[in-house]
Amino acid sequence: MSTIVSPSVLSADFANLERDVKMLNKSNAEWLHIDIMDGQFVPNISFGLPVMKAIHKHATKPLDVHLMIATPDDYIDEFKDAGAEILTVHYEACTHLHRSLQRIKSAGMKAGVALNPHTPVDLLKDIIHDIDLVLIMSVNPGFGGQKFIPQAVEKVRALKTLITNAKATTLIEVDGGVNLETGKLLVEAGADALVAGSFVFGSEDPIKTIEKLGEL
Ligand code: DX5
Ligand code: ZN
Repeated sequence: MSTIVSPSVLSADFANLERDVKMLNKSNAEWLHIDIMDGQFVPNISFGLPVMKAIHKHATKPLDVHLMIATPDDYIDEFKDAGAEILTVHYEACTHLHRSLQRIKSAGMKAGVALNPHTPVDLLKDIIHDIDLVLIMSVNPGFGGQKFIPQAVEKVRALKTLITNAKATTLIEVDGGVNLETGKLLVEAGADALVAGSFVFGSEDPIKTIEKLGEL
């Protein structure tokens, strides 16, 4: 079984986005991970809708969009229009998470929920059947290139048990500090998809690196 690889465009060369997106098109990457940061929910600003639209224009793979913004409910339709296929909101940013998920799905996207490192997976128990994907953060969101938080591996294991017991079809994706070593532990624990930014774009041969991650 192969692992879904979702390279994070946050680590691409923003002055050569078209080139980097076309490189990802040629790779084994299944999705393209798009990190949207607002300087409110996280202490950093990445890029917004116009840049995402430009990425979408060149991408041949589904856009896996990770919203690190304080009011995701206000922008669901905008992200659909900008090309999102998977739209992931943070548990910590959604007071009425069930409603947010329904709105994402009725807009025609897959609905994801991201959990910060301190947020327990058990909190998703009652709505697991409503979630297409859970994004376990293995760093504090906001920046690429951070050190992997090892407790993420146990969280993936616990989430896998929760999903299996509920007979749900929710996918598990992990984001932050992923490389071949941490990725292997995560896949063994039950991760279906791996996000990787600096490890892919900082490598000599990103296409080969994506291929290796997909073989984990
Ligand atoms: C962090 C972002 C990640 C980031 C991962 O807030 O959500 O997607 O790009 O970067 P690496 O793989 O370098 O940890
Ligand atoms: Zn991300």
